[in-house]
Amino acid sequence: MSHLGSAGYQPVPDAEGGSAARAWWDENATGYQDEHGGFLGAAELCWGPEGLREADAHLLGEVRGRQVLEIGAGAAQGARWLTDAGARAVATDVSAGMLEAGARLDAGRGRRVPLVQADARALPFADAAFDVVFTAFGAIPFVPDAERVHAEAARVLRPGGRWVFSATHPLRWAFPDDPSERGLTATRSYFDRTPYVERDAGGRVAYAEYHRTVGDHVRDVVAAGLQVCDVVEPEWPAGNTEVWGGWGPVRGRYLPGTIVVVTRRP
Ligand SMILES: C[S@@+](CC[C@H](N)C(=O)[O-])C[C@H]1O[C@@H](n2cnc3c(N)ncnc32)[C@H](O)[C@@H]1O
Repeated sequence: MSHLGSAGYQPVPDAEGGSAARAWWDENATGYQDEHGGFLGAAELCWGPEGLREADAHLLGEVRGRQVLEIGAGAAQGARWLTDAGARAVATDVSAGMLEAGARLDAGRGRRVPLVQADARALPFADAAFDVVFTAFGAIPFVPDAERVHAEAARVLRPGGRWVFSATHPLRWAFPDDPSERGLTATRSYFDRTPYVERDAGGRVAYAEYHRTVGDHVRDVVAAGLQVCDVVEPEWPAGNTEVWGGWGPVRGRYLPGTIVVVTRRP
């Protein structure tokens, strides 16, 4: 277990920030699943802490019989739900630890989702191999070069296919990552893209999270040749008492926490 040396907003070389995620998620895979696995469900596609489920939102369109790719899949709860819904789903993640958590979930169900270890910026699949590609909070917040993720999603999609991703709502960057009322006062510029970085006791980058404005996300997907079909900002439902990091009902009443961008390859 590495010990936190420092944390804060600071520039970091792209190569260091972009490669930190793998070890961080390996180390934190069990803790993440212990903390959030119950809320996520073993076989559900949940777009974010608001609890919006694909079963209700239908952002992926028709999935039965479709070839579907999940990236940044974690324990592949989304791909598992898609399999149950009749899709042919493959789950990928850069972290072997997160995929092992997925294999443990599969072991209890007697049906296996194909799990492939892959960086979302270099997918090991042929061009136009999938009808749908998606991620719930996977990869994009953790890489300096999200445009590569969008380009890969576009490449492996068939014409007419959808690429749908959720991420932290950009507005949240301006506010402290605190689920209480302290998190309701803006303390940073929404326009400051300096990443949030944690270093271990030896000064190495252990975790990096990147900010993009709404315009940055749109520009990135358009540059990948995709069309934006919808931008969904789930509202915090009255009955949801879940506190997940800086997300929770107190701030959920005032601020969006998640953005879901629905795009299509023309
Ligand atoms: C917040 S978790 C979300 C996991 C899952 N989608 C869920 O909803 O629980 C972020 C995931 O992104 C993965 N990830 C980070 N960087 C990645 C990259 N460059 N390529 C693929 N996956 C990445 C992490 O390993 C982790 O599993």
